[in-house]
Amino acid sequence: MVSASRRFRIAAIPADGVGQEVVAAGREVLDALAAGSAGAFAFDWQEFGWGCEYYARTGRMMAEDGLEALRDFDAIYFGAVGWPGVPDHISLWGLRLAICQNFDQWANVRPVHFLPGVRSPLRQADDTELDWVVVRENSEGEYAGFGGRNFAGRGPGGEVAVQSALFTEVGCERIMRFAFDLARTRRRRKVSSVTKSNAQQYGMVLWDEIFKRVARDYPDVETESVLVDAMAAKFVLRPEDLSVVVASNLHADILSDLGSALAGSLGLAASANLNPEGRFPSMFEPVHGSAPDIAGQGLANPVGAVGSAALMLEHLGLPGQAARLHAAIEATTAAGILTRDLGGTASTADVTKALIDALGT
Ligand SMILES: NC(=O)c1ccc[n+]([C@@H]2O[C@H](COP(=O)([O-])OP(=O)(O)OC[C@H]3O[C@@H](n4cnc5c(N)ncnc54)[C@H](O)[C@@H]3O)[C@@H](O)[C@H]2O)c1
Repeated sequence: MVSASRRFRIAAIPADGVGQEVVAAGREVLDALAAGSAGAFAFDWQEFGWGCEYYARTGRMMAEDGLEALRDFDAIYFGAVGWPGVPDHISLWGLRLAICQNFDQWANVRPVHFLPGVRSPLRQADDTELDWVVVRENSEGEYAGFGGRNFAGRGPGGEVAVQSALFTEVGCERIMRFAFDLARTRRRRKVSSVTKSNAQQYGMVLWDEIFKRVARDYPDVETESVLVDAMAAKFVLRPEDLSVVVASNLHADILSDLGSALAGSLGLAASANLNPEGRFPSMFEPVHGSAPDIAGQGLANPVGAVGSAALMLEHLGLPGQAARLHAAIEATTAAGILTRDLGGTASTADVTKALIDALGT
């Protein structure tokens, strides 16, 4: 073991499919960064082999005492969950959502970052600087898990399912304040709230009311409230008008995938699931899923996972190191070292090596 003045205990949960490949890549890059820090910091990794294979063996997505085992780590570095043969709602709720919800990681930060050397399907991306952040409410909304099926035993052909969304004043207010505070750290101080209060007259109307109320405490921050359908169009047609976009769990999930596709690929998008109070460890993961179509072939783009590692470094109080990682990502894409999803021919290993070389450690 290297002796270092700051050691961070990180739980790695690669889970399924390309999650395993990109977490391994991210760990390699982070270890290279630490190795070049002349003992300033180091990572103590512990890997947890949870996921769909674990489920096939044990009937559980994670160990029964899994949350207890994770609780004292400084952060969690996650891959992706889901594999054919295990229903997606079982795998998602059994691992990723179990961690996010039990550790009250209520703020999910998903930057949409355009990289040099990566072609975007957006016309303006060639000559306009585009850079915005989706702030996703990560603890309630449409993913609260309330509902039921087959009331009164209607049986085949007559089934009924109810899926309710939960919006609380506390939940809405804290994510909105988070978005406004984030906007104050950005060049453009603006928060766009995503709503659907024309159709959803309870939860989304509460969301809008709280947005207006919180906005009054931030008179220096511009605001707008946009229906989710219009916001989808705006992502494509006027993305230069966006800075921080705050949205409910489902809306932000969909919009952030759109954002990363516009930036060039789902494989680029990074995310942080934060428990801002620090009562529990926060979790860092690429936005993409387990990509069974390309898993195990060395084709996965590791940039989303490495960008998530940069968010983790910021969270751990190493913003300078996070900036170095971002610079390495930009140098790598600018040099045309791109995986297949971006039209290149580089493998996961090629990109990982290029990132490490670009760190110059
Ligand atoms: N956070 C998560 O753990 C998470 C998120 C989304 C989906 N999932 C799960 O992942 C499984 C597959 O879902 P999906 O196909 O809808 O979404 P996906 O993100 O796995 O894949 C969508 C498309 O993007 C491509 N892609 C994704 N990541 C890539 C990468 N790093 N490099 C290159 N290409 C990449 C895939 O090849 C595929 O064509 C499902 O079981 C789903 O439930 C998990």
